[in-house]
Amino acid sequence: MKKFIKWSVILGGVFLLGACGSGATTGTSSSQKSEGKLAAIKKAGVLKVGTSADFPPFEFHTMVDGKDTIVGADVDMVNAIAEELGVKVQWSDTEFDPMLASLQQGNLDMGVSGISATEERKQNMLFTDNYYAPKQNVVVKKDNLDKYTNIASLAGKKVGAQKGSIQEGIVKDQFTDSQLVSVGKIPSLVVEVKQGSIDALVLEDKIAESYVAQNADLALADIEVTSSDDESYAIALPKGSEDLQAELNKILAKLTEEDKIDEFVEKNTALANEQAK
Ligand code: ARG
Repeated sequence: MKKFIKWSVILGGVFLLGACGSGATTGTSSSQKSEGKLAAIKKAGVLKVGTSADFPPFEFHTMVDGKDTIVGADVDMVNAIAEELGVKVQWSDTEFDPMLASLQQGNLDMGVSGISATEERKQNMLFTDNYYAPKQNVVVKKDNLDKYTNIASLAGKKVGAQKGSIQEGIVKDQFTDSQLVSVGKIPSLVVEVKQGSIDALVLEDKIAESYVAQNADLALADIEVTSSDDESYAIALPKGSEDLQAELNKILAKLTEEDKIDEFVEKNTALANEQAK
């Protein structure tokens, strides 16, 4: 009897192992399914990319040969990726917040929009390795530069941030005595600062510099905003795109190694600033 129990325990163990084995097989088939993602994109010949093209020098509109075109450092990066994959790019330009939602629903292959790879977003989407580390800046009217010299000076004032962006969280966490104003598109926020309906606007370094270069009545305030580790930009992917993620990381490593990203940022900063003249 004792022997029987022993054997049944052992057999049970084997059965459990077998169950684990089949669990592992399920794992393989799901990764096979995600291997299908890259193959599917190559087969379609099109990479569907979501962005919010209000973000110079990373993505913005300009006239190219008389045609309204989305350009920028992110666009150059995506073009390099598409070339590597042998596919065309199909851009979808919306507000930032709905773009992230659309990506999570799997309507886009990827989101490239200066997207910060935060821990919170990692719950709902995949990210590649980071490709750019920004800092935070505060944009104010030039006339108010002497007035707004630190976070405390903005107490009781309205501080803008793009809807769905990490800047909303920064205003809530750090500008605790100010009132957050969330708006979908950055140019609308810029107009509000110019008109004085909001007092300040939190943007990342290059973007703040671009808007200031394009608007002589705006300036970068001398206000220190604390940055956190997870503000760096990465490409966002819907969950289940692990194979695409791996391929993109290889391409990004190569582009970074060749200093291409810096080159794209520099080139497009000049292009965005030129537009203002
Ligand atoms: N990096 C910030 C974030 O991920 C802002 C990104 C906004 N991007 C844009 N293209 N408007 O929340």
